[in-house]
Amino acid sequence: MSDERFTDFGFERVPRADKRRRVRAVFDSVAANYDLMNDLMSAGAHRLWKHFTLTLANLRPGQRALDVAGGTGDLALGLARQVGARGRVVLADINAAMLARGRDRLLDAGFVDNVACVLADAERLPFAAGSFDCITIGFGLRNVTDKAAALAAMHRALKPGGQLLVLEFSQPRLPGLKPLYDAYSFRVLPWLGRKVAHDEASYRYLAESIRMHPDPETLLKMLVAAGLEGCRYHNLAGGIVAVHRGYRA
Ligand SMILES: C[S@@+](CC[C@H](N)C(=O)[O-])C[C@H]1O[C@@H](n2cnc3c(N)ncnc32)[C@H](O)[C@@H]1O
Repeated sequence: MSDERFTDFGFERVPRADKRRRVRAVFDSVAANYDLMNDLMSAGAHRLWKHFTLTLANLRPGQRALDVAGGTGDLALGLARQVGARGRVVLADINAAMLARGRDRLLDAGFVDNVACVLADAERLPFAAGSFDCITIGFGLRNVTDKAAALAAMHRALKPGGQLLVLEFSQPRLPGLKPLYDAYSFRVLPWLGRKVAHDEASYRYLAESIRMHPDPETLLKMLVAAGLEGCRYHNLAGGIVAVHRGYRA
């Protein structure tokens, strides 16, 4: 088999056709504890990173937004608040267990008519070209097998002038932060996964998948290659997380 037929699943090399199934198994396993684990693992900081992303989105009432790989719906909830009753938000995810939790949270928060939940692969979004004013993907892109295809699909689904926001783990920039971050990722995260979620392997995958994700400059070039314009990124938490932004011309 040629190299192109393999991709990374954490630090493992797996046949490209297998990655989607392996990622699905991870999120089937973590769905029940996902929100609790997010708070524990980041000491609540993921809420600030999502708040910052939503501040960049800055949608007006009546606009349309899509949250790709939206999972339990944190970003979709914030987007729904911004666009209000006259707007529309679609929460899309490839995993039925994660999507069901997101749908329940949106319903519990009172969003019924202006939100929809769609089981969809980021690489093949089932929306007409030019459908959305804003598309977000939060901590989802690194799990996607063909990231270029996903970026192209999101670019296509944006309206002209619409913006894509990619919130994702990145690489620590602050001097001295990397060894601490590595120790935390490879020792504490799998331990927390074992103790709280009874699933060490999924949290080891989390730490490994972050290391395999493109660095912020490479990701910026990927946004440009997908046709996005005005691309730039913000480092958060000393570079542990980055938000990339680009527009459809
Ligand atoms: C770490 S969770 C992030 C959930 C949510 N966006 C957040 O920030 O809390 C990653 C999500 O990406 C979804 N996912 C993975 N691969 C995907 C794909 N190819 N297309 C769509 N969603 C995908 C998973 O099912 C999971 O819900």
